[in-house]
Amino acid sequence: MEEKKFYLTIPIFYANAELHLGHTYTLVLSDIIARYHRGIGDKTFFLAGSDEHGEKIVRAAQKEGLGPQAFVNNNVAKAQELMKKLAISNDAFIRTSDKESHWPGAQKLWKALEEAGDIYKGVYEGLYCVGCEAFITEKELVDGKCPHHDTAPDHIKEENYFFKLSKHAPELKRLLESSELKVTPQTRANEMIALFGGEGSEKTLADVSISRPEGSIPWGIPVPNDPGQLMYVWCDALSNYISALGYGREDETLFDTFWPADVQVLGKDIVRFHALLWPAMLLSAKLPLPKELLVHGFVTSGGKKMSKTLGNVLKPHDFIDGYGADALRYYLAREVTPTEDWDLTPEKFKEAYNANLANGLGNLVSRTLKMAEQYFGGQVTGSVATALPLRTRITEVSVVGDLAGLTVPYIITNDILPRYHAHMRAYEINKASDAVWELISSLDQYIADYEPFKLVKTDKDAAEKVIWSVLYGITEVADMITPLLPDTAAKIKALLGASEKEGERVFASHVPTEPLFMRKE
Ligand code: MSP
Repeated sequence: MEEKKFYLTIPIFYANAELHLGHTYTLVLSDIIARYHRGIGDKTFFLAGSDEHGEKIVRAAQKEGLGPQAFVNNNVAKAQELMKKLAISNDAFIRTSDKESHWPGAQKLWKALEEAGDIYKGVYEGLYCVGCEAFITEKELVDGKCPHHDTAPDHIKEENYFFKLSKHAPELKRLLESSELKVTPQTRANEMIALFGGEGSEKTLADVSISRPEGSIPWGIPVPNDPGQLMYVWCDALSNYISALGYGREDETLFDTFWPADVQVLGKDIVRFHALLWPAMLLSAKLPLPKELLVHGFVTSGGKKMSKTLGNVLKPHDFIDGYGADALRYYLAREVTPTEDWDLTPEKFKEAYNANLANGLGNLVSRTLKMAEQYFGGQVTGSVATALPLRTRITEVSVVGDLAGLTVPYIITNDILPRYHAHMRAYEINKASDAVWELISSLDQYIADYEPFKLVKTDKDAAEKVIWSVLYGITEVADMITPLLPDTAAKIKALLGASEKEGERVFASHVPTEPLFMRKE
C-alpha cells in the first residue's frame, strides 16, 4: 500500500509576548494529532512557527527598548523552550522574519496573485486595530472600541495594494456550502457562509488591503517590485504554510509532497483569515486548498478573559512546574472539548490530576507492578490464546468469564480500540482519551472482580493469568496514550519490560522508585 502523507499546520503565534495557556492548547492539540498520525504510519509533517512582522510587534519592541529583531528573537527562544518542555514534535519551525526560508515563498505567492490580475493599487481610508492586525469597520466597534482588544482603533488613510477578494466570493461560498472546504465544527462554516447573505443575496465580500506603506511600519516583507510597500502582515503570515515547505525556494520537494494540508488547526478568533482570505489567495494562485480547517474554542480563566490587569493569566509553566508536562497534556487532551470554549482554574486542574492521573492511571500501574513483583518476582508469562484473553475481551466480546471455578462479570466493552481510533481520526481527542480511561476503569474493575491478592493464596497459576492479563491491558493503555502522554507511555513501557518469546508475551517488570504521578493535597 502506498504510504499516506499527512500535513498538519498550526497558526504561527505572534512573537510579541510569552505564550499563555490558549496558545499552549493549539500546540498540544496539534501535537497529539501529529503524533497519532506518525504512529499509524503516515508520512507526517507538522509545522509550527512564529509571526514576527507588523505594527503590534514594532510597538511591543519599542516598549521594551529593543529593535524588532532582537525583541522577537527573545520571545521565539522562550516559546521554543516551552515547546521543548511540552514535547511538541513539530518537524519544522518557520519564522516570518527569516529572509531565506520564508520571504521567497511569501513573495512568490504575491506575484502569483498579481499575475492572476487580482492585485490593484488604491487608497485605504478607515480604521485599523493593531491588536487584530486588521482593518475594522465602524459597525464592528463596541463603544468605539475593538471588541477583542478593548482599544480604540487608529484612523488611517494611506495608499495600499488591494486584493480582489470579491472576485473569489462566489467560489468561496460554494466551497464552504458544499464542505469541499471542510470547516470543523460546521457552526464555524455557517458563520462564514452567513457573511455572504442568504440565498440570492447580492452581498459579497469587500476587497481587502494587502499592503501597508513602508513608512508607517518599517518591519515586514517588501512587496515585489515596490519596496515602498510592505506586505500586509496576514498575507505574509498565511503564506508560512507553504513557504515552510520550500514554496518559492529552489527545492520545492516538500511542497510537492505535502501540500495541500490535511488539516489546519486554528482558534475561533482567526476563522475569517483562514476560511476566506487564505483560500481566496490559494484560488487566485491556482493552488489546491487545505482539506480541513479544525477550529478550536477559547480558554477563559475562572470565567473571565485572561488579562494582565486581572492577574488571571494561565501560564503553562505553572502547570508544568507543579505537575509535569504530561499532566498538562492530559488536561488539554481529555478535559477539553476541542471545538468548544472551556474554563480552567488551578483547583479544577488539581482535581482532574488527582482523580485520573494519581489515582486512575498511576494507581493501576503501580499496584499491578507491585503485585507482579511480590508474587512472581516481576516475571509474568502468558499468551492471549492460552491464558486469560483480555485482548479478546477488549476487541471482540464482552462476556462472563469463568476462571478457576470463579464466575466473574466483565465490564470491558468490546469496542474500545475501534472507538479510540475513530475519534482520533476525527480529531475528537477528548473522546479518544475517554476510551483510554474507560479501559483503565475496566482493568481496575477486573482486578476487583478476580482479587488476585486472594487468589494467589489458593491458585497461583490463576493469579498469574489475572496479573498477566492486566499487564497486557496496561500495554494497550501505553500504546493508546503514546500520542497523548509520550513521556508517561515510554516510562510505562520500560517498567513493563515486555518481550515476545515462542508465541508468549513475557513481562520482566519492575516497580518504579517513585510514583508516575504524585498525589497533590
Ligand atoms: N499570528 C496569528 C496567526 C497567524 S496564522 C497565519 C495569531 N497569533 S496568536 O499568537 O494570537 O494566536 C495563536 C493561536 O493561539 C491561535 O490559534 C489563537 O486562536 C490561539 N489562542 C489565543 N488565545 C487563546 C485563548 N484564550 N484560548 C484558546 N486559544 C487561543 O493569531
